[in-house]
Amino acid sequence: MTEPTILAIESSCDETSAAVIRGGEVLSNIIATQAVHEKYGGVVPELASRAHQQNIIPVVTEALNKANVTKNELSAVAFTRGPGLLGALLVGSSFAKSLALGLNIPLIDVNHMQAHILAHFIDDPKPNFPFLCLTVSGGHTQIVLVKSHLDMEVIGQTTDDAVGEAFDKTAKMLGLPYPGGPMLDKAAAQGNPKAFEFPVGNMPGYDYSFSGIKTSVLYFLRDRTKENPDFVQENINDICASVQHTLIKTLLKKVVQATKDLGIKEVAIAGGVSANSGLRAALQDYAKRYSWNVYIPAFQYCTDNAGMIAMAAHYQYLAGDFADQYASPDPRMKI
Ligand code: KG4
Ligand code: ZN
Repeated sequence: MTEPTILAIESSCDETSAAVIRGGEVLSNIIATQAVHEKYGGVVPELASRAHQQNIIPVVTEALNKANVTKNELSAVAFTRGPGLLGALLVGSSFAKSLALGLNIPLIDVNHMQAHILAHFIDDPKPNFPFLCLTVSGGHTQIVLVKSHLDMEVIGQTTDDAVGEAFDKTAKMLGLPYPGGPMLDKAAAQGNPKAFEFPVGNMPGYDYSFSGIKTSVLYFLRDRTKENPDFVQENINDICASVQHTLIKTLLKKVVQATKDLGIKEVAIAGGVSANSGLRAALQDYAKRYSWNVYIPAFQYCTDNAGMIAMAAHYQYLAGDFADQYASPDPRMKI
């Protein structure tokens, strides 16, 4: 009972992933990234569902094998209930439900955004409660007050685009290949972050707005390429560095405010954009400047993975928080 062995499945977007956790230790974390979306420059929901269907059995098999665990040793099966793409979520949830039913073991439904935060409990050092987590992904931008493993409160969020979207759309406008965020990050490392200035909308409290920067980059590129058709080619690194710098400064400004208002010095980042090298470096700088303890997940636990779903499932199992067999996906699930 104290050492539950759980199989967790993640299928909310374009990674099919399965992980096995035993007594809170992640034994395996297998991720199949769907290359099929590359030529479309973004995730195509219908193709994502189909790829999940193709990947799920091999990925689950590999996760069990790598963990050296058989199906009969499982205490529960966990799945991402939301938020995410409905068709993609359906593949993981249907698989998990059937397996749990077949093995006659409990089912655990996990919130993907909560799981991104709980990825911090996979490796050491682990944050101390309460802490603030800046959760930044392709679909979300949130400042979350984390009071315990399962008690979290969103205190600020984007009112329009997610910051990952701002990275991806800027990259697309610059002609960088999909997935845009990591490509922009790479180019930014070679550029001057102060080369250009882009205005960002200022929202009240801890909220954000990232839709404006897309438009300002669009107009900026239109005007500059009118003067010089090779402008983008000649300045790509500086443009990337400047946009990235603006996004990071905007993100961290609200985090600084929240730490001051709430008197919290434990600060974590989570979600796909926490893989961004500029954000990781900036957080370390802020840690020195404001005497924060900062927590940055290992790369494999930044972007979507079932290891984090397994970690959330572990705490839910201990709390007796199980789903019924009719738990359907919730594409707009909130923390
Ligand atoms: O958490 P995630 O894997 O999926 C969602 O739940 O959305 O996050 C994906 C997002 C994408 O927008 C991707 O471009 C962004 O994370 N991302 C990055 C980097 N790596 C992933 N953005 C900026 N720099 C990176 N290195
Ligand atoms: Zn995610």
